[in-house]
Amino acid sequence: MGVYCALYLVVASFLRILTPAEGDAEVSCVFMEGCILPCSFQVDTEVIIHWIQRTTGDARVHSFYNNQDHLALQDQSFKNRTSLFQDQISGGNASLQLSGVKIQDQGRYQCTTSTLSGNKELIINLKVDAPVDRVDIEQVENRITCSSEGIYPQPELTWSTSPPSNVSLENNPTVQQTEQLLYNITSSLIASVTDLVYSCTVSTRTNKRTATLRQLSSIRGSSSGTTIPCTSNTSLTGFSLTWRFNHSQIILNQTGANVPYTVSEEWRQQVKSVSESGSLTLKDFSSDQEGIYTCELSNAEETYVTNTLLRVIKESPTDVAGIVVGVVLGIILVTIIALYCKHKQGTNFLLQKLYCFNVTPLVNIYSVPNNPP
Ligand SMILES: *[C@@H]1O[C@H](CO)[C@@H](O)[C@H](O)[C@H]1NC(C)=O
Ligand SMILES: *[C@@H]1O[C@H](CO)[C@@H](O)[C@H](O)[C@H]1NC(C)=O
Ligand SMILES: *[C@@H]1O[C@H](CO)[C@@H](O)[C@H](O)[C@H]1NC(C)=O
Ligand SMILES: *[C@@H]1O[C@H](CO)[C@@H](O)[C@H](O)[C@H]1NC(C)=O
Ligand SMILES: *[C@@H]1O[C@H](CO)[C@@H](O)[C@H](O)[C@H]1NC(C)=O
Ligand SMILES: *[C@@H]1O[C@H](CO)[C@@H](O)[C@H](O)[C@H]1NC(C)=O
Ligand SMILES: *[C@@H]1O[C@H](CO)[C@@H](O)[C@H](O)[C@H]1NC(C)=O
Repeated sequence: MGVYCALYLVVASFLRILTPAEGDAEVSCVFMEGCILPCSFQVDTEVIIHWIQRTTGDARVHSFYNNQDHLALQDQSFKNRTSLFQDQISGGNASLQLSGVKIQDQGRYQCTTSTLSGNKELIINLKVDAPVDRVDIEQVENRITCSSEGIYPQPELTWSTSPPSNVSLENNPTVQQTEQLLYNITSSLIASVTDLVYSCTVSTRTNKRTATLRQLSSIRGSSSGTTIPCTSNTSLTGFSLTWRFNHSQIILNQTGANVPYTVSEEWRQQVKSVSESGSLTLKDFSSDQEGIYTCELSNAEETYVTNTLLRVIKESPTDVAGIVVGVVLGIILVTIIALYCKHKQGTNFLLQKLYCFNVTPLVNIYSVPNNPP
């Protein structure tokens, strides 16, 4: 009987180690942040605390006895990352503090405490999440690409359009895993229908983010100044704003409404102002500033990207020729009227008053060579 009992205990505790039991406490930690694995015991003297990771064999995480830490046998992967709340051990607190949490830290941890009055064992199940931090969406020619990086567990990516449409949203995202076991995800599609707004949502266990792209529209800038709209909506409340040039160069950013914006050194000369709705006004504009202007509005869940292609108005050769021809024709016309007035004085008083009186002083200048006094 005693043998069976002992055997049962051995098997039971063995199973307990391998499979997460119902009652195991679960702790969720965020990648690269700190995390506390709770454990407590009945206060007594001669405290011994052992923390062991039970997933990959038995990795020693942290040991404490004789009133001090003993880390000589600590597993390399936990080096410099563990501590106990030393001042609270006397109060029965054996919680472990883990810093710089990695995906590899996931698994089951056993806290064993022993004092003169007895032993206690506790299992903590540790989960790690790397939430979706940002989603990038960009358009190059008619290909729209959506991507997000550094996510755990494996994310999902979905496309949608506004207004809803049945354009093919072929979606076979490429997923890659980094050395740190995080996931990068990217997907692209061809924008076949214009006037559609494309959105891409990347989601994982703890959160999701959506990035929305308004397709490239084109405006002409003039050297005197140009305003590039950011969004049709009016308020920027709760959003941070970034203006970029040609997809990469940052022109300016603003962390929220009512916060001053910061203009990058290279763009000080060109940026005149930013409106309350985020529109960017440029001055001293030249062909060097021709390109794609991207306005990006971002809050905790969403990113709105608007691209505008800005072209500079140039005085084309035909325009110049037109102006020259116009001026020449004008001079000829004025001269004809002047001659008409000189010769037909008095025939039609009204006509003469209309055409001649007002132009006569001007006309005289041109008439001088023909009619010397
Ligand atoms: C132990 O102490 C830490 C730090 O004060 C506290 O955050 C934690 O909740 C305590 N844990 C227990 C089990 O009392
Ligand atoms: C641990 O920290 C010490 C001092 O801060 C440092 O010298 C050592 O390189 C660190 N070890 C590891 C494995 O990070
Ligand atoms: C959407 O589907 C309907 C019916 O299948 C089709 O007639 C229509 O042309 C489709 N529209 C687009 C934009 O593909
Ligand atoms: C994932 O994205 C990061 C950040 O851009 C990049 O440094 C890394 O090379 C990518 N890893 C893979 C496997 O694509
Ligand atoms: C713009 O307005 C629409 C509808 O009112 C809203 O759903 C969307 O979140 C707004 N976008 C921004 C950037 O405020
Ligand atoms: C924009 O903000 C980022 C961080 O939010 C900062 O690193 C960068 O220097 C800022 N750029 C400008 C032009 O202010
Ligand atoms: C910006 O992009 C436009 C169009 O793609 C290109 O013509 C221009 O040379 C680029 N400007 C700079 C400064 O890179």
